Amino acid sequence: MAEGGGSPAPGNVAFHDLHPAVGDSRSEALAGLRAAQKRVDPKHFYDARGSRLFEAITRLPEYYPTRTETAILRREARAIAGSCGTRAVLIEPGSGNCEKVQLLLDALRPAAYVPVDISAAFLREAAQALGDAFPWLPVRAICADFNAAPELDDYLPPGRRLVFYPGSTIGNLEPAAARGFLRRLAGWLGEDGGALVGVDLHKDPAVLERAYNDSAGVTAAFNLNVLNSLNRLLDADFDSAAFSHRAFYDARRQRIEMHLVSEREQAVSCNGEAIHFAAGETLHTENSYKYTVEGFAGLAAEAGLAVREHWVDPRQLFSVHYLECA
Ligand code: AVJ
Repeated sequence: MAEGGGSPAPGNVAFHDLHPAVGDSRSEALAGLRAAQKRVDPKHFYDARGSRLFEAITRLPEYYPTRTETAILRREARAIAGSCGTRAVLIEPGSGNCEKVQLLLDALRPAAYVPVDISAAFLREAAQALGDAFPWLPVRAICADFNAAPELDDYLPPGRRLVFYPGSTIGNLEPAAARGFLRRLAGWLGEDGGALVGVDLHKDPAVLERAYNDSAGVTAAFNLNVLNSLNRLLDADFDSAAFSHRAFYDARRQRIEMHLVSEREQAVSCNGEAIHFAAGETLHTENSYKYTVEGFAGLAAEAGLAVREHWVDPRQLFSVHYLECA
């Protein structure tokens, strides 16, 4: 069963490391800390501890997105396969623990599954576990930044491409950037490809704010943990006890904003450079945009993609969209 290329792995699982560049990440993080409104890319949440904290978030009573999307995928797997078709090469950018895709594999019967993630160790482990659980499925894991890996094409098995992008990860992007992402995706999918995208829906702000301000304080710990990532990335000395968690819904922009608030005036050393925080000044750590079903279809249309089908839960908290080239 072993196939050529990549590092040797037993049976149906292969692993390619395209070595996503860390140097770019460092200068980009520094630029964010020098900006008037300090900001950091939410990808820095997901170090080993942050990935565990995010898994804990997905189990919180207040955090509805994961369990709602999971329920949609479980209930609609047959219908989803009916729209997406079977035997495709199924590609998942930011695959993480590869948990959600398992709900679809028996219905989708992909020719191969290609998880793509920037965290090599996490990816290797998740891909192997998935390959063990689904021995009939060729798993071709690729360690790369999906948004900056032109050579990705060279490592893809041939066949019709189906991209799985769940979790409302697309909500982390500004709408203009989401449109750009979808446009690149459209080119990459080609005439016959498709994409299955999970999108969190606009709703009662109280429900949204509770989901990002849980009573157990897990989201606060997750938010503060980004400082540990920055400490490692930039050889910095952020003190997480000197910052506090803030999350709120901006109804006009239809997004949750997460910030870390500096409790006092302080200077933080980053790569030998002093970054000053006034008391009450914030580091903007995440946007999580919420869409209406129509709003998302409009965004996709601007990117040359048409929503062929969409599924929502009975309470209309979350949506899953199947897109093809318009
Ligand atoms: C994984 C980006 C979809 O925005 O809800 C959870 C991350 N941030 N709690 C989201 C997150 C705070 C999550 N996404």
